[in-house]
Amino acid sequence: MILFVNACVRPESRTRRLADCLLGRLDGTVKEITLIENDFPKMDADFIRGRDQWVESADYSSPVLDYAKDFAAADTIVIAAPYWDLSFPAALKQYLEQICVSGITFYYENGVPKGLCRAEKLYYITTAGGPVYGDFGYGYVRTLAQVFFGIAHTECVQAEGLDMPGADVEQILRAAEEKIAAGS
Ligand SMILES: Cc1cc2nc3c(=O)[nH]c(=O)nc-3n(C[C@H](O)[C@H](O)[C@H](O)COP(=O)(O)O)c2cc1C
Repeated sequence: MILFVNACVRPESRTRRLADCLLGRLDGTVKEITLIENDFPKMDADFIRGRDQWVESADYSSPVLDYAKDFAAADTIVIAAPYWDLSFPAALKQYLEQICVSGITFYYENGVPKGLCRAEKLYYITTAGGPVYGDFGYGYVRTLAQVFFGIAHTECVQAEGLDMPGADVEQILRAAEEKIAAGS
């Protein structure tokens, strides 16, 4: 199963276009989670206390844990997120908070996180209006994948400068699509 974590927001999303290009080249059934349509539980003190109790008693029956279970079970993960405020939309952070569950996507061995996820590879797809500064979007997700989830193999596909004056948007997107085609 390919898990498509869709953090795109706009109907005309360019990030979504690149994600569709990649998904069209991958083998397997796609399960999509559209983050903008999800009302994630508030991570308040009660929620954290309750979740800690489930983990302590190894009771993973709550449907709230389905996000983490789906992520752990996927063979391939594709995350598509536009570049917002140097990283990604807050809904993706909310989702990541829901899937970081000890006992499902990772566990601690002598205080060190070890991965429990099945995926061989995680793709991160993004598009940016200007240049991508730092590595706060993909870099963060890559480190989570490697340190928490045990997914060593990650790849970023990105298209930059789409909102710059005079940008040839179509040409930039086609170049990214060609890169996707060449890589698979
Ligand atoms: C809320 C918001 C924040 C953004 N922040 C940045 C930014 O920090 N740097 C940048 O280069 N572009 C920024 N942009 C522009 C988007 O990265 C760019 O338009 C991107 O291609 C949007 O992806 P989409 O077509 O998939 O929606 C921002 C756009 C929005 C709506």
